[in-house]
Amino acid sequence: MALLPILQYPDPRLHKVALPVGVVNDEIRALIRDMAETMYTAPGVGLAATQVDVHKRLIIVDTSESHDQLQVFINPEIVESSGVADCEEGCLSVPGIFEKVRRAERITVRALDEVGASFELSASGLLSVCIQHEMDHLLGKVFVEYLSRLKQQRILAKFKKQQRRVM
Ligand code: NI
Repeated sequence: MALLPILQYPDPRLHKVALPVGVVNDEIRALIRDMAETMYTAPGVGLAATQVDVHKRLIIVDTSESHDQLQVFINPEIVESSGVADCEEGCLSVPGIFEKVRRAERITVRALDEVGASFELSASGLLSVCIQHEMDHLLGKVFVEYLSRLKQQRILAKFKKQQRRVM
């Protein structure tokens, strides 16, 4: 297993659109293991392949208290959604920023698991928010893009300043 570098906002590679996974093979399973290690180490409750610069439709999520309930979604599609929920979100690609985002309250997602079997899952609460957040990454969308222009400009300025410090 290996820790993967997580792209940091405003890296333009975070805006790439991921392509569907053709075959769920050992290469994909190795990627899932590396992504899981990266997510748990960070620590975070979700990670999209986009964030580790792999532009394939794959996300992982673990919203359990015990951090041992990894859920894998390959080629995820939301087949049903309802309600509205405002939830504070953060992102491993935008460290230190927590802002409320409006999303669907309940979703049903259809995806493949790590052996390539199709499944459907209905989710609400944190799991629902997390799946929607990670699926946005696959479309090249970072959660701060839901915020007002003013807030986005402030966040952008903060991250550009940080980049100057470390380079
Ligand atoms: Ni994120």
